Amino acid sequence: MSSSAEPLRVAVLLSGRGSNLRALIAGASDDASFHLVGAFSDRPEAPGLQHAREAGLPTAAFAPRDYPDKGAFERALFDAVTASGAELVVLAGFMRVLSAPTVEAWRGRLINIHPSLLPKYPGLHTHARVLEAGDAEHGASVHFVTAVLDGGPVLMQVRIPVRPGDDAEVLAARLIVEEHRLLLAAVRLIARRRVRLDGEQILIDGQRLTAPMLVPAAP
Ligand code: GRF
Repeated sequence: MSSSAEPLRVAVLLSGRGSNLRALIAGASDDASFHLVGAFSDRPEAPGLQHAREAGLPTAAFAPRDYPDKGAFERALFDAVTASGAELVVLAGFMRVLSAPTVEAWRGRLINIHPSLLPKYPGLHTHARVLEAGDAEHGASVHFVTAVLDGGPVLMQVRIPVRPGDDAEVLAARLIVEEHRLLLAAVRLIARRRVRLDGEQILIDGQRLTAPMLVPAAP
């Protein structure tokens, strides 16, 4: 990574609406610690790419069907990410599981935002699963990506209460606002070059992180 005086170059990968990307775009405009070098997608029609273009960000889309196999698709995608100069890659609603060689090549420089309090509820439909389980609390996590789906070391979380009468949609809408704050806080911390991944261990200012950092939810 470049020195802490230089803004961290961040690329975002997405498949959908891109509200987390928009939060990063807004955050980057008033924070010199990082800047966005591009938005990349596996879906040319992803609405998030349109937001990126409107914000003047370079974009590129790679449809898996245009490649002979997953490896070739990921090489094309990550060749473009590398060419953008990205030092950190943020998966923000990127709906594909990356293969082990890609994850290993970017280990420590690849983070994901996931809508649950990991290790609870990796995978899909997290809001409904929280409600089904009768949990009193829900939340989101930013974690380093490893070969295990939603399984890498968790850097930061935000927690919200589940309220009586919540359905999955209401809960998701309340959580997404907090996700935006969480993702921005995590990228800012990494941009200050305070975070390092050492094996399965996260180091903050050289000290082992023993539990995920907590971003307070808005009152
Ligand atoms: C977010 O809930 C994120 O946690 C999950 O996918 C969703 C993406 O939302 N990985 P958006 O496209 O950023 O609005």
